[in-house]
Amino acid sequence: MVITRTREELYKTLEEFSKRPGKLALIPTMGNLHDGHLSLIKLAKLKATKTITSIFVNPLQFGINEDFKKYPRTEKLDIEKLKKEHCDILFIPSSGEEVFSKIEKVKTLDSGNLGSELCGKIRPGHFDGVLTVVNRLFELINPDIAVFGAKDYQQQILIKQMAKLLHPKISLVKAPIIRSKNGVALSSRNNYLSKKEFEIAANLFKCLQNSVNSYHKRKELNEILDNANSFLISKNLVPDYFELRDSELNIISKNNFKGNKVFLGSITINNIRLIDNIEF
Ligand code: PAF
Repeated sequence: MVITRTREELYKTLEEFSKRPGKLALIPTMGNLHDGHLSLIKLAKLKATKTITSIFVNPLQFGINEDFKKYPRTEKLDIEKLKKEHCDILFIPSSGEEVFSKIEKVKTLDSGNLGSELCGKIRPGHFDGVLTVVNRLFELINPDIAVFGAKDYQQQILIKQMAKLLHPKISLVKAPIIRSKNGVALSSRNNYLSKKEFEIAANLFKCLQNSVNSYHKRKELNEILDNANSFLISKNLVPDYFELRDSELNIISKNNFKGNKVFLGSITINNIRLIDNIEF
């Protein structure tokens, strides 16, 4: 695996790789890689002959009270894992200036109305930061394909909308959610949970499953959502939101909506926010 830390090294390596046949797939990450990330790389390798992973803890997507400084940085371990997956290139910028020339002067992208709903309501500006960095990575790397996990459903939809406008040649691939044995979706934040909290957190997935079953049984949507919120609270999970949306995240207000849809939930447990969803 070629490790690139500066823009210059990145460009040189990309130039070399452009002489090889086949497509280039980008897997953008913030590091602290777990099996969920590794599944993105495995999927990328099925879709493209060349893979590049980026590891950049993007300051623009963290709010003032969020964990940018504390965000786990596990470079050595990440590199070992990427080598095992036979990733071809790693872009791990040595500083923010290798991504944005001057971080203070970055022109942020606007994630619009959807960017301030659901997770965006709890994390104002977060999705502007995500879109800004992903757009920048797309500009620097210009991949044929980019892979994003379905766990971050809203992120994935917003990036799809941005890419359609600004990078129509890049194909986006959505990778399925990887879960631990008890059903909890893999996430770097799971590391912050105690064993007991991790077991309790499994109730978010249970709640999503119950809600899908109830929907199939034609229960009233309002009743499903009320039951979901009560269930989560009864398990000591504080719901930030629990909603049903169509697969593009438009609001669904009527019962028996026939198209593709998704239940999405976000809960807080001991100040740690976890998200999950089920599409059906
Ligand atoms: O999902 C993430 O890890 C980040 O939001 C991303 C897409 C790498 C942008 O920083």
